[in-house]
Order: sequence, then C-alpha cells, then structure tokens
Amino acid sequence: MCGIVGGIGQFPIRDYLINGLKTLDYRGYDSAGVALAEPEGIRVFRMPGRVQALDEATPRDLHVVLGIGHTRWATHGAPTANNAHPHTSMNGEFVLVHNGVIDNFRHLKNKLEAEGYVFHSETDTEVVANLLEFHYNRLKNVKAAMLAMIEELQGSYALAILKKGDLKHIYFAKNRSPLVVGHGEGKNLLASDFLPMLKEGKDFAPILDHQYGYITEDTIKIFNEDGSVANPKFTRPDLKIEDIGLQGYPHYMLKEIEEAPAVVRRLIDNYFDGNQFLFDPKLINKLKAADDIIFIACGTSYHACLIGRRYMEYLGKRSEVYIASEWAYHPFVSAKNPMFVIVSQSGETADLIRCMEIINSRGAVSLTITNTKGSTLERDATYSLLLFAGVEIAVASTKAYVAQVALLSLLTGAMDDSTAVVSHLYDVIKAENAVIANSESLKPTAKYLSGKKDVFFLGRGTDYDVALEASLKLKEITYIHSEGLPGGELKHGPIALIEKDTPVIGFISDPLTDLPIRSNFKEVEARGATVITVVSKSLAKAGDSITVPDVKEYLSPLVKVLVAQYLAYFAALELKVNIDKPRNLAKSVTVE
Ligand code: G6P
Repeated sequence: MCGIVGGIGQFPIRDYLINGLKTLDYRGYDSAGVALAEPEGIRVFRMPGRVQALDEATPRDLHVVLGIGHTRWATHGAPTANNAHPHTSMNGEFVLVHNGVIDNFRHLKNKLEAEGYVFHSETDTEVVANLLEFHYNRLKNVKAAMLAMIEELQGSYALAILKKGDLKHIYFAKNRSPLVVGHGEGKNLLASDFLPMLKEGKDFAPILDHQYGYITEDTIKIFNEDGSVANPKFTRPDLKIEDIGLQGYPHYMLKEIEEAPAVVRRLIDNYFDGNQFLFDPKLINKLKAADDIIFIACGTSYHACLIGRRYMEYLGKRSEVYIASEWAYHPFVSAKNPMFVIVSQSGETADLIRCMEIINSRGAVSLTITNTKGSTLERDATYSLLLFAGVEIAVASTKAYVAQVALLSLLTGAMDDSTAVVSHLYDVIKAENAVIANSESLKPTAKYLSGKKDVFFLGRGTDYDVALEASLKLKEITYIHSEGLPGGELKHGPIALIEKDTPVIGFISDPLTDLPIRSNFKEVEARGATVITVVSKSLAKAGDSITVPDVKEYLSPLVKVLVAQYLAYFAALELKVNIDKPRNLAKSVTVE
C-alpha cells in the first residue's frame, strides 16, 4: 500500500525509480509518479493507473541527478493524476512523496489556507508539502523546517523530499509507515522496503519512528527525535535478485502456492536440529507461563491464528484471537499474565502496529511471527520468530499462511516438549507434493466455480478455519462473492441463500466431525446446492469430489488450503483477471 523509492548518485536514476516502482507494485496502488531533479530544475510526471503508463510518459533523455518515485493507493481523493504523488508545495520549494495518513490534515490545511496557501489536490500529502514550505520560509533552514513540520504532523508518514535548487540531498522522515535506506557504490538509496534497492544497493537499514535525515551521493545521515545522530546496523538480506523473479511461472501466486513444501521444510530446518527445537528457551517458558495466549492479526494471518488458538487449547491453555483493527479500539484483556502473539507476513500492517503500541505501553510480553526481518513489528516485540517463507509477491497470501500454521505447530510442539510434530510435518510435505502433482485435476471444478455468483465453503473445527481462508482467497482474486461458514451454523440463516446449483465446498478432515458435516451437506443438497467435498483419504466415501492424502488432523489445514488456493487461482485464470494484483487490494496495508 503506497510505495516510495528514491536515489541519488552516479547511475541511471530514471530507470531505477521506474523499475523500483514496478518492484513495489505488489504492495497495491492505483496511480504512480516520479520527480526527477536535473541541474535545470525538478520535473514531475504523474499518471493514474499502472507504472507502465508512467514509464511511457517519462522521458528517457533527462540528466537526472537525484529522484523520488511513488505508487499511491488512494485514501484522500480519487486515483487521478492530480492526486498522484509527488506533490509540489505552492511556491515550488519542495517536492515530496508520502506513504501514510495525516490524521490532522484538515486542521493543518485550514491553518495554511489562512496563511494564503492554495491547494490543487484533495490529498493530505499536499498539506505536508505546503507545511514544510511554510516553515522553511520562516526558518530558512531545511533541517529546522523539517523538525517544525514533524512537530505538527499527527498520523503516519514515510516521506521522501526534494528541495528546489538542491542537487545534493534527498530528505526523509518517518513515523509508523515503513522506510528503508540503502548504501550503494557512488550512490545512496531509499525505499519502502529493500526489494527495489536490491540490485543497486549493498546493505540496508530501516529508519525508525520519529527519525529523519537525508541521503547524499556518499553519505546517509539519520537523526533521532532528540537531534542525536543515529547509527543503525546496515545488513544485507539473504536474498538474491533471482529469488524475486517469476522463474518461469505465469504468476507469482502459482509459484508461491507451489513453494509450500519447501517452506515447511525450511521451517523445520530452522527450528529443529534433528534432536531438539531451536526456539529461545526463554520464549517457550514465557509461553508456558502465560495465563492467556492472545493472538492478534489481520486477513490471512488472522485465519492462521484461528488454528494457532486451537493448538494452544489442545495444550489446555486459554487462548483468544482478535482482528487487529477491532482490538486496537477495544484492547480488553482480563488475564493477569497474558502473552501477545502478533502474526503478520509483512510485519508492517498499520492496525497491528497500533496494537503493538498499546501492548508495549502496558509493558506486556509479545511475540511477533513475521516473514519480514527488520520490520517494525519484529523490532517492537519482546520476541520474534521469522517465517523464512521467502518474499511473497502476490497480493493474495498463500505460502505465508502455510508457514504461519507450520511454525505455530512447531511452537506448540516445543511448548509440549514433544518432537512428534516434526515427523507429522514431513507427512505434510509429502501430501502437499501430491496435491501439487495432481493440481491439474482441480481445473474443471475451478472452471465451474468461475461461472458462479456466490460460493459457500463449509467446515467444522479446523476445517471451518480453512473454509474462512478458502473463501477469502476466492473472493480476493476472482471477485466472486463467497462465505466461509461453520457447517452447523448454516441453518441459522445462511441456508436461506442456497438455491438450485449454488456451489457449496465442504472440507472433511476429522472423523469426529465427519458425520455432522455430511449431514450439513445433505441439508443444502436438499435445497438444490451442488456440493463439492474436499476429503482426507481415510474418510473418503463414494461420491466425494476431491481426495487428498491423510496427515495428522491438526495439520490438515496445511494440505486442504492448497486445494483452496488452486481452486481460487484456476478460477481467476478462467476469468482473465489480474491474479497477482487484484483490484482495490494491497499487499502491505500500511494505513489504518
Ligand atoms: C492484506 C493482504 C493480505 C494479508 C493482510 C494482513 O490484506 O492483502 O494478504 O493477509 O493484509 O497482512 P500481514 O502482512 O499483517 O500478514
């Protein structure tokens, strides 16, 4: 959600910015722009729609010395060229890009209008540009003007700023929206994450909240809130540029679905040495000692947490799961010694960052489970565990879910002093490989679903948790309306929606719920529904639709979810929609 890229030095900056924006486009956006500083002045190009259109509209024969670029996911104002970033202050003193939301922008706008400022867009970002210019006109010093601006801004922001007539600096400031700086040879860089900088940069460091500073061709200067100089550790992620390519796959989503077995294996390798678990014993003791394990997450990660809660309950522990945007405004905890578990693929989800602030303000213990080393949520937690799933590019999360559930199962094993989970996970790897090998057989079902208006997913127990994720996957990338429901709840309302040939997809993994869920299928069949069953082999009966290999029931989501992911993917393929970048969605949701 909104991407920033910037660079200064001896290299083809125009192409770096455009390619960087293309790399960042997985975050989700609906307009894009660049500001390119030449000795003659700053030139701004902005376009609604894809970065490709911006690329075509941006001249190639410029003498660019430094530049910034932006992909915008509209919040304040429609995705028009006029609202696209970069925004220029009224008298052209500053040109800037912004990721985040300025909460007090209305108040600041009124104040600046009273000072004679005229606005040309509906954005909160133009307010930032004019506020900076206002203070610069007063103070005649960029650093002082930035400090005065920061003091007035309420909300979230990552800002990259060019100053008219200054060919030596790109300024930046950050609060609650991600920003990373990178060293290169004869150049320096900044971006929303390290991916666009991977080719040109050597090593990278995240900017922390309330920090600000600038990059020049040969220095990176970062200041803390109190004006002291920050010296962050620069590191290079263990990732090659090839790792972020499609590697022959038509879509990232398909590539990432099929990485599931490798993801599970990598987690085992990272957290089990062949004899014992490699988790920090202090973390395991904290989890064991907690009187409530409180999971907080959003989207697909929330669905993984639903399974995590069941794992805690299997151990006899009290556990809850909250949606971050809900808990943030009703942060109720009754336990005396809770442990918060924040699960986030990106580690940058704004609603979760707000929750983390609340947790930390109460001095509570937290664990972040994330795929993103160095992310805000990783840094701000008491403990953190990495998912090692590799970069996930498709907006619809697939392998990260697999990694989250698998890691939660390993963690549960460690809390239970039982390593049996490891061999159970090896069975999962085999079963996932079998689903992948037979994936073509799912195409006719997916084709059938692609022609439908509504689809219902049913399950009980962990199968219900999978039904929720299956439904999310389908609606995210096909735009077909779908719902995930507990089988037994159907007759309390949703059954009213069942008509002749309404597709109902049912998961069966557990002998305990086999009979009751099959009764639920009968209820909808009697009302005309077409039932498609996804069943573990040992429970399969004549007439079942899709059979998958058996694994331990508590790990069955790791196999069943692959079927759901393929069904969504193949249905989207039929519908010829943009699978990796579905409309309106963002990969990393950095605004609340
Ligand atoms: C967005 C993404 C989802 C993701 C959710 C939570 O909605 O499109 O795929 O599940 O955010 O993101 P997180 O990075 O916190 O797991």
